[in-house]
Amino acid sequence: MQLLKNLAWRYATKKFDSKKRISESDLEKIKEAISLSASSYGLQTYKVLIIEDTEIRKRLQPKSWGQSQIVDASQLIVFCNYTKVEENVIDDYLKLKADIQELNIDDLKGYGDFMKSKILELTDNATKNWTSKQAYIGLANLLVACAELKIDACPMEGFEPEAYDEILGLSEKGLSVAVIATIGYRSEEDLTQHSRKVRKPINKLFETI
Ligand SMILES: Cc1cc2nc3c(=O)[nH]c(=O)nc-3n(C[C@H](O)[C@H](O)[C@H](O)COP(=O)(O)O)c2cc1C
Repeated sequence: MQLLKNLAWRYATKKFDSKKRISESDLEKIKEAISLSASSYGLQTYKVLIIEDTEIRKRLQPKSWGQSQIVDASQLIVFCNYTKVEENVIDDYLKLKADIQELNIDDLKGYGDFMKSKILELTDNATKNWTSKQAYIGLANLLVACAELKIDACPMEGFEPEAYDEILGLSEKGLSVAVIATIGYRSEEDLTQHSRKVRKPINKLFETI
């Protein structure tokens, strides 16, 4: 299975070659893979920022445990989750679904009411927790797509969310940073690429009941 080979090839890249850039066409493929991610009810309750700007990345680096990937990678990808999911978000989704699938929107009312009954009753914290989980599914597909394209990536939680929110002006857009990733090409000097994968034995990770 090629997927398993790709997953064995990838590793969380610690040092990127700052001279190598990802091509536009590969970047489009990565974006499409993220966009095709499954999401709860199909609502895609997150937004993905692709940060190329050097100055912004220099400001973000000290707020990211000083990690070099932030400035050296070809792109910094910031997965932001929506902090609120209100009625209009669900209505917009239903309109989009009716349009794309050529359905009568009135026939979706029952489904819409069901979604609203579940989502609108969530507390703010539960909403943020739920929307950020969706963003992680996008992250997983980014990692898989990059591995197939032989592009290196590092998923990252080592950053200060409040500083990201402030530097990127996320709160005013109703967003909050969930998780980030850096993508590009590994430096030959990155010793991590030679390390064996550390994983629990399969029989410890899984239990059949
Ligand atoms: C959500 C998440 C956050 C992570 N945060 C960081 C990080 O801030 N910096 C880093 O160098 N690696 C980070 N990692 C990489 C993990 O340490 C790495 O995936 C793990 O050790 C397994 O190694 P592998 O991905 O090379 O197979 C993160 C991974 C995930 C999934």
